[in-house]
Amino acid sequence: MSEANKKRILIAISGGIAAYKTAELVRKLKKDDFEVRVCMSRAACEFITPLTMQALSGNPVHTDLLDPTAEAGMGHIELARWADMIMIAPASANIMAKLAHGIADDLTTTLCLASEAPLHLAPAMNRIMWQNPATRANAELLAERGITLHGPASGEQACGESGAGRMLEAAELADIIRRQFATNNRNNNNDDDDDDENDSDDDKVLSNPLENKQVLITAGPTREAIDPVRFISNRSSGKMGYALAEAARDLGAHVTLISGPVALEAPQGVTVLAVESAQEMHQKALQQAQSADIFIATAAVSDYAPKQQATQKIKKQAQEITLELTQNPDILSDVSRQYPSLFTVGFAAETEKLIKHAEDKLKRKKLDMIVANPVGDNQGFDQDTNQVEIIWDQGQLSLPEQAKSALAKEIMQIVSQRFANHPILV
Ligand SMILES: Cc1cc2nc3c(=O)[nH]c(=O)nc-3n(C[C@H](O)[C@H](O)[C@H](O)COP(=O)(O)O)c2cc1C
Repeated sequence: MSEANKKRILIAISGGIAAYKTAELVRKLKKDDFEVRVCMSRAACEFITPLTMQALSGNPVHTDLLDPTAEAGMGHIELARWADMIMIAPASANIMAKLAHGIADDLTTTLCLASEAPLHLAPAMNRIMWQNPATRANAELLAERGITLHGPASGEQACGESGAGRMLEAAELADIIRRQFATNNRNNNNDDDDDDENDSDDDKVLSNPLENKQVLITAGPTREAIDPVRFISNRSSGKMGYALAEAARDLGAHVTLISGPVALEAPQGVTVLAVESAQEMHQKALQQAQSADIFIATAAVSDYAPKQQATQKIKKQAQEITLELTQNPDILSDVSRQYPSLFTVGFAAETEKLIKHAEDKLKRKKLDMIVANPVGDNQGFDQDTNQVEIIWDQGQLSLPEQAKSALAKEIMQIVSQRFANHPILV
């Protein structure tokens, strides 16, 4: 590829143990024919030497805001303009805090403020630092502003602890960067309009991946009839699913909501399909999924239904009666199996071992993302607030307790970002 056509990645390294992985990332990007420049914080230089990064990137490494060698002495502006994409890897808790608050006290933070290039972060830190409410709030703020966070992953950490905080592996980050440009190229190639319009369309796709997408959501409980007047159901109110439908609509998506029986008003601009039983929901979901881009299953579907439904009201006679139950179809599994290219998001409402059960469900049902929330003990079902853990194959994010409407907006932002990185776009 000619030098002029090469994509230009600015890799910024902040101070964390995971900096050693970034050497491998730069090597991989060079191998893939990207033009790579590296800037490093003062702390980063304690973890890996600029000389190593210079040798791997083939370019001098930038460490100082005040750079007399830069043309016009403004190295930060030159780098900010040069980059097609900025990836901060590892992103320390410190740099996340600085970016969230617009602090520009070193080269990386200043050039990030001065750049229009898409900004991506690969956070890496001790799990308690990652869980700290300050870091959580900074991560959410950055995500809301369209900055993309990748990871961190869960696992054993350099500090000897285990949990969410590991930086994604170099191969995973290289793959994310490749896909980012593949998405741009695809959008360019598919558009016959002139270049100026092309550019603005690209921005739109990257900044709002849900625009005009078909989002299918299930919500509420199901009712499994025992006889014409009685049923088995659960405490789901549908509030979370309805709030997600509104949040997806507000992001420009066309939303279809398959709803079990709830006491909520249909959100404006959302197509609501009312169902009662798990069987009906299953049938509607498979039918609607054909034209969907994203499927979000928030409904609390009854796992079991009475094996037989009495045609007449069951009379009170015997002291004890036995109700035989049979398993309902698994809507989420069936949809994700039948439509493997669909971006699928599951919800896991658990009374115990929240993360473990959610991770199992993510893998077992081959989902792209799972939102886990604790239920029971006045949590989750039929409440106006909720707290959730969002888990995907390479990362995890906790969203603290808040109103379901606010939570839905945050969840949809994350769905939207993960969807944009979904392989189907490549
Ligand atoms: C041995 C050691 C390891 C560290 N690892 C991390 C880390 O993985 N993530 C993190 O956010 N901070 C880590 N820190 C703390 C940061 O280096 C520190 O907050 C520093 O100010 C970050 O500066 P920077 O964001 O400008 O690079 C570590 C510190 C030490 C001494």
